Amino acid sequence: MSDFVSDFWNLYVVVIVVASILACAVLLIVQGKATFTPGKTMGHVWDGDLEEYNNPMPKWWSWLFVITVIFAFVYLALYPGLGNFKGMLGWTSVGQHKVEVEKMDATVKPLFDKYMAMDVKAVAGDKQGKEMGKRLYDTYCMQCHGADARGAKGFPNLTDSDWLYGGEPEQIKQTLEGGRMGVMPPHAQLGADTIKDLANFVRSLAGLPNDAVRTAKGKEAFAASGCSGCHGPEGKGMQAIGAPNLTDKVWLYGSSENTIIETITNGRQNKMPAWKEFLGDAKIHLLTAYVYGLSQGAK
Ligand code: HEC
Ligand code: HEC
Repeated sequence: MSDFVSDFWNLYVVVIVVASILACAVLLIVQGKATFTPGKTMGHVWDGDLEEYNNPMPKWWSWLFVITVIFAFVYLALYPGLGNFKGMLGWTSVGQHKVEVEKMDATVKPLFDKYMAMDVKAVAGDKQGKEMGKRLYDTYCMQCHGADARGAKGFPNLTDSDWLYGGEPEQIKQTLEGGRMGVMPPHAQLGADTIKDLANFVRSLAGLPNDAVRTAKGKEAFAASGCSGCHGPEGKGMQAIGAPNLTDKVWLYGSSENTIIETITNGRQNKMPAWKEFLGDAKIHLLTAYVYGLSQGAK
């Protein structure tokens, strides 16, 4: 496909290219016919004693130019370069890329097939399977979940045994294929005082220092304000909607009273992209096994 919108640019390029090459050829011919008088100088003198002789160019030098001109025409006949003309070989950079991708796919396909036929847990225990998973992780996941997969504020740690959406192979695969959208609604309407009570109650759930009076009020508000509808009556979370367990030491956003107040007041929205279309089944399978393997042995 040409990018030119009108034929003018096609002609423009063709004319300039052909004219330039012809000009070189003409120059060569003219120079070949020029008469020289070896031994005589041109009459130019530099620095007192540096003079220019009237000698022909060395033959090997002229031949290089002849070869260059011939090469240019042969090249332009075979490959794209002359305006819209595609070249007799039909070569395109896109085509070459496709051939290389196909070659690569053909070499890794048997490997992908082998792992697709294996159970996620078995792939997680396979050395080469793990290495392939790690390379995929480093390419597609590292920028958000970190080089060591330990996450950051808002990006879950994948190496622990705490899961927003579940750590069984099927759940991890579902997370990767469809993506996830965690929505904690804002609760500013409850008022700063109640929100502070709630924050103290949440901290008490996780065994963090808290104000006993506020915690008692927060406990009631937790049930009355609908928190328990998502986080569960005991605050242990609900994996179906990614509501975090509030009773453990793992925090997506932070456990300080101020951070929790911010979370409750403004809410949080978090998105894990979906990968099914982009990566395909075989890569997702390897990544599922890799992520599954990361958390094995974690407490
Ligand atoms: C653009 C940033 C981004 C990229 C890239 C990304 N993730 Fe995520 N991922 C997130 C966020 C944010 C969450 C948390 C979503 C939530 O809070 O609901 C998440 C959640 C997850 C979870 C669920 C964790 C749990 O506790 O249940 C897994 C597993 C996961 N990601 C794996 C991956 C893998 C594997 C890749 C690479 C294919 C990847 N992620 C790429 C942002 C990203
Ligand atoms: C509609 C369901 C829903 C309701 C109602 C809800 N939450 Fe959440 N909450 C979530 C989800 C989902 C997340 C995780 C958001 C994310 O993935 O970014 C969350 C996150 C949190 C966090 C952050 C935890 C961390 O690890 O940093 C706290 C704290 C919290 N909620 C407390 C509350 C309190 C208190 C209430 C009641 C006022 C409440 N939530 C009501 C769904 C809910």
